[in-house]
Amino acid sequence: MGKFKVVLTGQTWPSALEKIEEQCEVKVWKEANPIPRALLLEWLKEAEGLFSTGDVKVDAELLAAAPQLRVVAQASVGYDNIDIDACTERGVPFGNTPGVLVEATADLTFALLLAAARRIHEGWDHVRSGNWKSGSGIPFGVDLFGKTLGIVGMGDIGCAVARRAKACGLNIIYHNRSQRKDDELLQARYVGFDDLLHEADFIIVLVPLSNQSRGLFGTEAFAKMKSSAYFINASRGPVVNTDALYEALRNKQIAYAALDVTDPEPISGDHPLLSLSNILITPHVGSATFETRNRMANLAADNLLAGLDRKKLPACVNT
Ligand code: DGY
Repeated sequence: MGKFKVVLTGQTWPSALEKIEEQCEVKVWKEANPIPRALLLEWLKEAEGLFSTGDVKVDAELLAAAPQLRVVAQASVGYDNIDIDACTERGVPFGNTPGVLVEATADLTFALLLAAARRIHEGWDHVRSGNWKSGSGIPFGVDLFGKTLGIVGMGDIGCAVARRAKACGLNIIYHNRSQRKDDELLQARYVGFDDLLHEADFIIVLVPLSNQSRGLFGTEAFAKMKSSAYFINASRGPVVNTDALYEALRNKQIAYAALDVTDPEPISGDHPLLSLSNILITPHVGSATFETRNRMANLAADNLLAGLDRKKLPACVNT
C-alpha cells in the first residue's frame, strides 16, 4: 500500500513530523507567512489528510477542493477557523488538542494577571532604562489577596486558573452558559454576566470564539466594570471589541488590560492600543511551552493518522 498524501500548513515538531512521515508523503509550507489560499487549494487536490497549524480557514470551499480528504487535524484546542458543520456534512472528522494544554495556558493566564497587578514589565523597564536610582518612580501595583476574580468561561482552563487564584487568596465568581455541577468543590460562585462585570476586581476571559461570544466585551460591558478593574483576555481576540477596549483604557473607565490575544492578530507595532500605558500584551503564547506544544503536535499527529486509517480520532470535535 502506498503512503497517504498529507498537507501541513506549517512546520511542526520533529517528533510529530517523524510519526507522520512514517506513513505519509507530506507537503509542508515552510514560510513564516500563512500559505496562500490558492496554493493550499492546489496542494489539497490529491490530499487525504490536512494538518492545520491554525492560520487557514477550513470551509466548504476548501473541502470541495480536496475530494480525497479523510481528516483534518489541528494542533490547538480552539477551532474558530474551522467550519465544523461543513466538515461533518462532508463526513470529514476534525481533531483538536484539548486537555494537553490546560496547565500551560492556565499558567500564562495567571501570569498575565500577576504581571498586570504587580506591574512587572514596568518595573523591568524602569530597571533596564537605568532609572532605578532610589525608591522614587518605582511602579506600584495592587493586592490580589481578598479581591474578587471573575472568570468568564469556566472550562478546564478556567478551573485550572481558579485553582491558582484560590492559592493567592482571591474569591472566585464565574459565568458560563450554565452553572457547573462542581462549583462547590472549586469554591467558585456562579453569577450572571452583568453581576460578574459589576463585582469583579479582575476579569479573566476564557470563552471560545463563537457567534455568541464575538464582541461580547464592548462599550456596554466595559461601562459595567469597576474603574479599578483589570481585564485579562486569553481566549480569542474578537471576543473583545478592540476600539471599545482602547476607549475604556484611554478614558480610565477600567484600570488595566493584559491580553494574550488581539483583534487584529498579530497586532502591528503602530496600533493605538500599544500607545497606552495601562496595557500589557503577549503574542498568543498561552500554550507556548516546549513540552505543551510538543504534546499538542503529537496529539494532532495521532488524530491525523487515525483519520487516515478511518479509525476513531483520539480527540474528535464532530463525531
Ligand atoms: C489554542 O490551542 O486554541 C491556543 O489558543 C493556540 O492557538
